[in-house]
Amino acid sequence: MKIFSGSSNRPLAENIAGLMGEKLSPVEVFAFPDGEKRIRILEPVVGEDTVVVQSTTNPADTNYMELFFLTNALAKGGAKSITAVIPYLGYQRQDHVFRDGEAVSLEVVVNTLEAVGINRVITVDLHSVRISEVFTIPVSHLSALGIFAEVIKKNGWDTDDTVLVSPDGGGGRRIRMLSELLGKRNYAIVEKNRDLNTGKVEATSIEGELGKRAIIVDDMITSGGTIAKTAELLGQKGVEEIIVFATHGIFVEGALDSLEKSVIKKVFVTDTVGVPEEKGIEKLEILSVAEIVAKALKGLG
Ligand code: R5P
Repeated sequence: MKIFSGSSNRPLAENIAGLMGEKLSPVEVFAFPDGEKRIRILEPVVGEDTVVVQSTTNPADTNYMELFFLTNALAKGGAKSITAVIPYLGYQRQDHVFRDGEAVSLEVVVNTLEAVGINRVITVDLHSVRISEVFTIPVSHLSALGIFAEVIKKNGWDTDDTVLVSPDGGGGRRIRMLSELLGKRNYAIVEKNRDLNTGKVEATSIEGELGKRAIIVDDMITSGGTIAKTAELLGQKGVEEIIVFATHGIFVEGALDSLEKSVIKKVFVTDTVGVPEEKGIEKLEILSVAEIVAKALKGLG
């Protein structure tokens, strides 16, 4: 097996390769002055099973193009199979028409991934489980919830005064799964409204009993608005300690800063999206999905 990485998240790709007992195969990425990129794989792949690791966010379009070109290079080089490890799948939230006239971006992305020659996709915590059904190629949809459950137990947070909180109805399935993993821990679901024009979020009410500690669980943090509004509501309801777990820390400009200033005690994300060290904040801890991805690549996950 030969493992290649795009430039979006090399540290994760290196860790995955290490767990597979491999080194990353070399790739040359050349950026032209106008921003176009030329991709060249520097090892023969004829008859090889190959893997490309690339998260497709921040900047999503550029990272997608790199992934498409890498795949094309592998296909042209005669690879026997191409597995794309896309720890964060960009454009997944635009999975249907929310308002008349909108494009279904996810559909375009999936069609292109399949057209360039990818045979299998491995991804982590999709926004909705139905996203994997849009693909006609096999998709291994992994979850970081098992990793979160271990951290919760290790910190002794799986107690009766802890309530798991989903910041919106869409996360209901996720919170129920985590509750099961923690031996049916109590959970609550927040009613969230997002203004589709401004993107502004309101957390209006909460369904379920609360306790002294709340653990908010979400699939991703982008602006931090959802988490901030949820934490605000929990504070108003008398919750004393708030901890956050989210799989994908996308963290657009200002998000980490506002999390640092918030009442939230600790924020855990995974390395599906690379967070540059200089952007790190004290209360942020990054957990790795490398092991679950390596297991899936070995056919064990
Ligand atoms: C939305 O339904 C997602 O599950 C996340 O809650 C949302 O994308 C987070 O975005 P932000 O951090 O910008 O509120």
